[in-house]
Amino acid sequence: MTATLMDGKELAREVRGRLKERVSALRSEGVEPRLETVLVGDDGSSKVYLATKHRAAAEVGIAASNHTLRGDSSEATVGSLISALNARTDVHAILVQLPLPRQLNAHTIISMISPEKDADGLTPHNLGRLVYSEEALLPCTPKGIMALLKHYGIKLAGANVVVINRSVLVGKPLCHLMMSEDATVTVCHSKTRELADATRKADIVVSAVGRRPDFVLGADMVKEGAVVVDVAVNRVDGRLVGDADFGPVSEKASFITPVPGGVGPMTVAMLLENTVVAAAAQAKARTVLLAGRGP
Ligand code: GUN
Repeated sequence: MTATLMDGKELAREVRGRLKERVSALRSEGVEPRLETVLVGDDGSSKVYLATKHRAAAEVGIAASNHTLRGDSSEATVGSLISALNARTDVHAILVQLPLPRQLNAHTIISMISPEKDADGLTPHNLGRLVYSEEALLPCTPKGIMALLKHYGIKLAGANVVVINRSVLVGKPLCHLMMSEDATVTVCHSKTRELADATRKADIVVSAVGRRPDFVLGADMVKEGAVVVDVAVNRVDGRLVGDADFGPVSEKASFITPVPGGVGPMTVAMLLENTVVAAAAQAKARTVLLAGRGP
């Protein structure tokens, strides 16, 4: 079998096209969707990711600015910036780029973001709503993976899914989204014994390890006809590659995401979608509030 490529670049382009129309409708009602990002320190990869996010925001008409704080900033310094952004009525979405420097606790910092402005869907409020299968701003990478699987008609009900990642950013929210779609989900990680025994039974394998050459998802680890979602970005000999040994795995899989051009562009598109959803919801809440005040 030769796998069909799940083209995240193309689907993200379609999503951005739809968002552009929603942004222009919001603008015609006097709402300018605005995303503010926060970078603490000067991590090179984070800067590249943020530049991509800002470029994509500009393309769909979302206003965006970045705030760079020193790498040795205290929790109070980051907190006061987040409070100021929470209070601004012209700001609809806030993203704190991860990872944070060691002196800062990500949970503490992310928890300071107002849930309605939580561009990444990572606040306890939104993650809690996700666990209850309630409407919420969702973490961008899991949301992007779900959109890709849906677009390519991959059935989740009853499917055996193995997710190799247990992070708050990817594995934990993804397993809840998949459970909500009636998949049977196994979450694997660095301490999992006999990982290949689990992956070989999976109808869908989601791999988000990013530790080449220590970990490679080989063709011997996937069953014939499996769907392979490769979330990792590894740099090997100056090239970007995922976890999967792409050639051999794509000979065996039915569907596979390329790296780059698979999950990555979908993550960015979902960030834009969250920003637009947040802007629309805040504009609506404000209209209701103002109407309630009477003449
Ligand atoms: N670092 C890597 N991926 C992400 C993401 O989706 N959101 C944030 N805030 N930081 C990240």
